[in-house]
Amino acid sequence: MTSIGIHDLALATTHHVVDLAELAEDAGVDPAKYHIGLGQDRMSVPTADEDIVTMGAEAALPLLQRHGTDGIRTLLFATESGVDQSKSAGLFVHELLGLPRTMRVVEFKQACYGATAALQSALGFVARNPQERVLVISSDVARYELGSAGEPTQGAGAVAMLVAADPALLEIEPVSGVAARDVDDFWRPNDSTTAVVDGRLSLTAYLGALTTAWDDFTAAGGVGIEQIDRFCFHQPFTKMARKALTGLAQHTGATLTDELQEATFAYNRELGNTYTASLYAGLASLLDHDDDLAGRRIGLFSYGSGAVGEFFTGLVRPGYQQLRRRESTEAQIAGRVRLGLPAYRELHGAEHPSDTDWEAPSVTEGAFRFAGIRDRARRYEATP
Ligand code: CAA
Repeated sequence: MTSIGIHDLALATTHHVVDLAELAEDAGVDPAKYHIGLGQDRMSVPTADEDIVTMGAEAALPLLQRHGTDGIRTLLFATESGVDQSKSAGLFVHELLGLPRTMRVVEFKQACYGATAALQSALGFVARNPQERVLVISSDVARYELGSAGEPTQGAGAVAMLVAADPALLEIEPVSGVAARDVDDFWRPNDSTTAVVDGRLSLTAYLGALTTAWDDFTAAGGVGIEQIDRFCFHQPFTKMARKALTGLAQHTGATLTDELQEATFAYNRELGNTYTASLYAGLASLLDHDDDLAGRRIGLFSYGSGAVGEFFTGLVRPGYQQLRRRESTEAQIAGRVRLGLPAYRELHGAEHPSDTDWEAPSVTEGAFRFAGIRDRARRYEATP
């Protein structure tokens, strides 16, 4: 049977960063609550001329530069923070990247889980025709109300993945465990730019989906827990992944130490929650920061509030380090420009109604920018 999985993967984030130590000081909160209690250090914040489209295109660009567009007939764009009720954000990316006209492009939505649905669909497309490759983009801006408990768990970022046969990074194994339940733990009404969240319920819903998905994985013939060498969980804040590992250990009776996931945290501590991209930013961090993982099995858990969960596994391919770009990812994260709290709050509250033409100020130094709104439509362009 053909091996199929993630052939390459790249991450992008925003121009600005807010330091959570500053946010804590301003709120009169002990900074240790954010650094240790939530496991977060900073959060990426988009400029007025950045959004899920510009980050998604930026993440996908190096993949196309390295591997070309041959065989790419499908672009699947996963997001919670969509920019249009009808048109896929992927179509803006398709144009910005000059992708072939002979393609299908579609947007996936189920909170933070969407990228895993897109990845599983991509595996299906490639299984049907191993000559095809699928571009999967996950991109999100996580926004909660100012002053809310969720505020320090905001963030922004994108991960693009090229899914192909005989992949260079991670072969995804066929068995998955899935879980779905209608629960109001986190959602975003159509007229709201910030998420509504029941924080306590969201933690138990996440952990409940994990154990249901794990039991389904086992029932479907998945490997035993002792055959999994590393774990990578969805990270709305990195402490949540620690709670997940503890929960799985209690549920299975296995001894699971934090060393089995420690290397997944480096990027997410910096980016904050990237919703759909968070699990895959964790995977990028694991591949970039752990010892040689060739031949090792990674267990991945994807969670999207509302709620859907999926547990699946992947085998790291020999030679995977040749495709990793840790230095450029770290340089991008370190190169973000600090945003003071007054400017952050102003950007957070800015609204640009779609019925008024608006020209975005030029701030981003990324490859693409949101130019503004003209004739009710969003306009994007390459930065000069
Ligand atoms: N030093 C060290 N730790 C401290 C501390 C200090 N001075 N003060 C508090 N802490 C610890 C607390 O003990 C707690 O740790 P434990 O949970 O391990 O006990 C942690 O810091 C957080 O403290 P609180 O529980 O008091 O924090 P809070 O109630 O203010 O907010 C939250 C926490 C509910 C998660 C909130 O940040 C939130 O609503 N976030 C958004 C929702 C979310 O991310 N949910 C996750 C599951 S849903 C999901 O995964 C989908 C998604 O992406 C949104």
